[in-house]
Amino acid sequence: MQQLISDLEKIREALRYHAHRYYVLDDPEVSDSEYDELYDRLLAIEGENPELITPDSPSQRVGGAPIDAFQSVEHRAPMLSLGKCTTEEEFDAWLRRCSTELDRDIGSLVCEPKFDGVAVNLLYENGILTRAATRGDGTVGELITANVKTISAVPLRLLSDNVPEWVEIRGEVYITIEDFDAYNRSAAANGERLFVSPRNSAAGSLRQKDPTMTAKRPLSIYCYSIGAHSDDYQPQSHLEAINDLHKWGCRVNEFVERCENGAACVDYIARLGERRDGLPYEIDGVVIKVDDLGTQRDLGFYIRQPRWAIAFKYPPVDASTTLLDVEYQVGRTGAVTPVARLDPVQVDRVTVSNATLHNQDEIERLGIRRGSKVLLRRAGDVIPKIVRVVEVGEGALIEAPELCPSCGTKLTRGEDEAILRCPAQLSCPAQLQNAVIYFCSRECLDIKGMGTQRVEQLLKKGLIKRNSDIFTLKKEPLVELERMGEKSAQSLLDAIENAKETTYPRFINSLGIRNIGEDTSAILADRFPTLEALIAVDVETLLEVDNIAETIALNVVEFFAIEANRDEARRLVELGVHWPESTASVDSSLEGQIWVLTGKTSRPRTEVKSLLVARGAKVSGSVSKNTTHVFAGENAGSKLAKAEELGIRILDESEFNDLIE
Ligand code: IVH
Repeated sequence: MQQLISDLEKIREALRYHAHRYYVLDDPEVSDSEYDELYDRLLAIEGENPELITPDSPSQRVGGAPIDAFQSVEHRAPMLSLGKCTTEEEFDAWLRRCSTELDRDIGSLVCEPKFDGVAVNLLYENGILTRAATRGDGTVGELITANVKTISAVPLRLLSDNVPEWVEIRGEVYITIEDFDAYNRSAAANGERLFVSPRNSAAGSLRQKDPTMTAKRPLSIYCYSIGAHSDDYQPQSHLEAINDLHKWGCRVNEFVERCENGAACVDYIARLGERRDGLPYEIDGVVIKVDDLGTQRDLGFYIRQPRWAIAFKYPPVDASTTLLDVEYQVGRTGAVTPVARLDPVQVDRVTVSNATLHNQDEIERLGIRRGSKVLLRRAGDVIPKIVRVVEVGEGALIEAPELCPSCGTKLTRGEDEAILRCPAQLSCPAQLQNAVIYFCSRECLDIKGMGTQRVEQLLKKGLIKRNSDIFTLKKEPLVELERMGEKSAQSLLDAIENAKETTYPRFINSLGIRNIGEDTSAILADRFPTLEALIAVDVETLLEVDNIAETIALNVVEFFAIEANRDEARRLVELGVHWPESTASVDSSLEGQIWVLTGKTSRPRTEVKSLLVARGAKVSGSVSKNTTHVFAGENAGSKLAKAEELGIRILDESEFNDLIE
């Protein structure tokens, strides 16, 4: 029997060790199947000897029976809330108040993320998790021990032997954004209720009456502080307590950081703010705490809030609003994409009234109806996106249009494409307008002054009907236009004149062949050095070229098979668009080289790239040991440093120009 008990304890030890590596440290040592094998052995022995089961055995995570109601339990020390600030000034005022009240320097601070989850209080007695409770009103919470035990990152027994007789550990239970999305997707597929946010989903999971339901939810935890504890434990600082938690096998966050003063905290707040969108879990701010626990005691409390800590809240990046309608926009290559029209709402200090919906599949996935309340998210400065439907509206479902909203042509949908298309090409006004805007853009002929509004105006007035008409524009009708005088008409004509001198890759790019951007244009320019050669090319020949896939080959051939496209390309040349021979008749002198561009250069980056690609080089975004050359412009930073470290050949602007010429 003694042998069996000791074997059993060894297996449990091993399981605890591996679960800690996997769930807490995110650094597993054994495969899932090895772990499962060990776990099965534990279940087998415990099955035959139920009297040997202990409450901290890894088998006891999902043991609790369903309950009718949660019991109340008093926390040994109250769970406090935090004062808030939202600006640097408010934060500074808090710091000053601390110093004034204390009448001495408050010492260093600790910054950490403010997790947007559910606070829990875990009581460990002699290292064993004996109860877990929600925050409740801060004094009395609800007992959710069986549910919390199902969270694999919560140790049932603390790892070290050197633990306090008893200790309350506080943490935030959360679910990752990815797991939350996956849960809602499957709930939607099964017709179940959806959660509105990851936080809401974690809270709902913890309040399940049946712990086997909680066990199915991918919950995790970050432990962020210690509550009441026995006298045998006397940490000196918050950071020391965090380190102890880590030693005891509790999951602590990687971004907990000591800051020596207020300025360092402000810097931390900015840095974490920049990373916020990329984090796998939701945070809504930063918690700043006085590090020294003696100083914390001296500062004390204000009603339910400690004076020694404050939450800096980030502006919300999520907002909910009503979806009024969905409109369909036609892009330059005929792709028809849905755009949501919203009741205007502030997101991240910006008023938002439109949001992208990508494609019809996305609309169906979200189950959107007109009048639905939707949750918006703005990540960085990209166009906001609809994350989910919070409340399904009364209005009609959004159905895909059958006809092009611009020209009325019947839309098509490729076999494996989620995207609807208008096949009318340039006879569709929307496609024509977007094609002209693209033609004038920086990566094509770069005609200054031909922005969206100007293009729209010229098309409406009938002064242009296709790209090449731009080069036939005369001064008189231009001067007559609204918001255009003698002077601006002349500068527009000058810009048009200047744009005639271009490069061959840019010219190809400006033709607007579907799926062909700057890089492919440069490759085509390299292999087919004259326009006539390009017009005459067939699919087989194109497929022989490196980096030209079948769809692209087909796109090129189909484009030039249309007479109007051939005529338009030739007309551009007839009207004076030209490029230096040197880029038209190119070589493959740089074949096999891998270049990285960094720093500021006087030529646009796209041009540098085209020059290199046209000579057979590849251009990559980051320096590695495969990089052969680095073009370093002004103010080059870390890429240059890395290149120097790796001994890669570095060229400055004049060396680069010599090479190209
Ligand atoms: S410390 C007195 N640290 O914020 C100290 N709380 O508004 C209070 N929270 O209920 C707790 N992340 O749920 C602390 N890193 C963190 C936190 C954090 C999230 C939550 C916690 C608490 C609420 C207070």
